Amino acid sequence: MPRIWKEEWKTYKAVFDQFSERNLHKLISNGTIDGLDSPLSIGKEANIFTAKRGDETVVVKMYRVSNCDFNRMYDYLKYDPRFEVKRSSRQIVFAWAQREYRNLLLARDANVAVPVPYAILYNILVMGCIFTGNQVAQKLMNDQPKNPKKFFDELLGEMKKMRQAGLAHGDLSPFNILNADQHPVIIDWSAGTTKDNSNYEEYWQRDIKNVCTYFKKIGIKADEEKVKAVILAQGFCFT
Ligand SMILES: Nc1ncnc2c1ncn2[C@@H]1O[C@H](COP(=O)(O)OP(=O)(O)O)[C@@H](O)[C@H]1O
Ligand SMILES: [Mg+2]
Repeated sequence: MPRIWKEEWKTYKAVFDQFSERNLHKLISNGTIDGLDSPLSIGKEANIFTAKRGDETVVVKMYRVSNCDFNRMYDYLKYDPRFEVKRSSRQIVFAWAQREYRNLLLARDANVAVPVPYAILYNILVMGCIFTGNQVAQKLMNDQPKNPKKFFDELLGEMKKMRQAGLAHGDLSPFNILNADQHPVIIDWSAGTTKDNSNYEEYWQRDIKNVCTYFKKIGIKADEEKVKAVILAQGFCFT
């Protein structure tokens, strides 16, 4: 075990399980990452760290294989025809992480502003780190846009590309949109789904509702029905 890794391990031991530790080692030995840097977020489902990958800083998102709301995850997954998941907590977490990775690939193909997905290994996802200047970007909730109208219009552009690609995020809100130098980047895609999911329209509408609720609070006339019409319309004429 390299020295730096040993020190990190001591610091973060409390948030790793043995399974995740083994897989982190695999990602280090196969050259996906050089080692962890520092914790970014300890969330409900995942522990998130920055890591080094050569000269680049990347993000390592480790879904927990215990202490998760497996029932909620299963309820989301069972309508997604891309995944056939047994009701085992491990299988559910792997599918959940896999789904975030696959959604990131689809979003990227559709030219949506998302982190670059680099690798997935069971419960561990490695992706590009989003920056604002030389600082890690903050979520919109903690870093309000300087020009809300401009940011909102850009976000609608992203949502339009998602709709055209048949993608719904499923949990789109100011918590899962980063403010990257005053441009939106959409993260946290594990609840995302494609249009062959029977709940697609419901998720799509909920995404719009949550986005509008936030932008109304910061002074934008974000009418849900108008936003839907804008997203569904051909071309790029905004509000
Ligand atoms: N690719 C990324 N670049 C920069 N920060 C990130 C990235 N992914 C996650 N984060 C940070 O980690 C936090 C939690 O990530 P998220 O994917 O939303 O997980 P959770 O399931 O815990 O909500 C985000 O709010 C953000 O601050
Ligand atoms: Mg989140």
